Formats: sequence, structure tokens, C-alpha cells
Amino acid sequence: MDAHIHPSILSADFANLEREFATIANADAIHVDVMDGHFVPNLTFGLPMVRRMLEITELPLDVHLMIENVDELAIGYAEAGAKSVTFHLEASNEPVALAKRIREAGALAAVAIKPGTDVEALLPMIEHFDMFLIMTVEPGFGGQKFITEMIPKIATLAHKISDEGAQVRLQIDGGVDLTNIGAAAAAGADTFVAGSCVFNAADRKLTIATLREMAQDNITR
Ligand code: DX5
Ligand code: ZN
Repeated sequence: MDAHIHPSILSADFANLEREFATIANADAIHVDVMDGHFVPNLTFGLPMVRRMLEITELPLDVHLMIENVDELAIGYAEAGAKSVTFHLEASNEPVALAKRIREAGALAAVAIKPGTDVEALLPMIEHFDMFLIMTVEPGFGGQKFITEMIPKIATLAHKISDEGAQVRLQIDGGVDLTNIGAAAAAGADTFVAGSCVFNAADRKLTIATLREMAQDNITR
């Protein structure tokens, strides 16, 4: 599996997104954090802003919904043209049905779990999703510290994915940097969100390339 790096624009300058996107042009996708101030204690932007982002970049958008009411709201992002739409398991009443609708709308379907949610809940759902997201910080804010205790969760899910021979991506998000990406890749992650590590770097493209190389050197699947 190729290691993919998805910079999170939560740490970007929201008033200059076109310019910011150009500084991460070698990314595999742009990670877009939609927050509603209810599911998480922070508020970013919604569908109108994401539609505009789709118009100003050639890069795929990886939309991470940290919102309530996903069973109703997620589909709009898929229809708008996001490459992948990730909703939180904790926010959906019908995750498998929602994944099916996201796929039918033309996007990849992904589901995320917060650090406190048991990974066992995801194990029976593998065939229904294109990507799983294990949060490695409490969702809501950029710049937090990677929770190392999430590594065994990554390994459990990666083993199950391998056992089933599924072509599913395993993403992690939160506190990813040059010091921990190798260990996360070795545990089974293949898709890495990195916000502050990329956007605070003097050379963002070099940081993306270095993260990708360090992940690829340790990837197991
Ligand atoms: C946190 C967001 C992340 C965040 C990552 O709730 O989902 O995508 O922007 O930022 P860093 O890499 O700074 O932890
Ligand atoms: Zn995110």
C-alpha cells in the first residue's frame, strides 16, 4: 500500500486558501475538517465553503465531518464532489446505510472513531467502507499531542483488514509528525493526516515528502 499524506487545512490561513493550497501541491489529498460546534467544541465551515474549495484545487478533498446529524448532512459533501467523506461512528444511527449512500453519490465512504470509542465496533463493517479513521487526538483542535495508546487500536484494525484481504485504507488523524509516523505505519496505518506539522514547517512540500518517505519505509501492508 502506498503511504498517503493528507495535510489538514485546520492549521492553514482560512483567508488565503488558494495560496495555502499551492504550498501543499504534492499532497495526496487535502484534509478538510468540518466542525459544527456541537459534535466538537469548535466551529469551522460547512458545505458552501467546501464547494468553493473544490473549485480552486485539482487535489482531491478528504472531508472529515465532525458534526451531528450526519445521516442527513453527509450526503451533500459526496454530491458536491469530495473524493472521500468521513463521518463519525458516534454521530450516525445507521453507519452502513450511510456508507452505501455516500458511495452511490460517487465518493469514497469512511468512518471515524474518537479515542474513547472501542475499535471492536468497526470490525464487522470492513466490507462497507473504503477507509477507516482512528483519531489519535480528541477531535476539535489542531496542534495536540499524539495519543500513543491508539497504536494497539491501529494494529487490531489493520490485522482484521489483512485477514479479510480487504482493499481498505487506514487513516490516522491528530498529532502526526516526523517522530511518530514511522511507528503508526508499522502498526498498520497507511493514510496520514498532518496539520500543524506541515503548515508550521518552513518548507511544507519537503515536510510532506519526508513524512511520506518515513511512512513508506515502515508500512507493512
Ligand atoms: C482535529 C482534526 C485534525 C487536525 C490535525 O480534530 O480532525 O485533522 O487538524 O491537526 P494536527 O496534525 O495539528 O494534530
Ligand atoms: Zn481531521
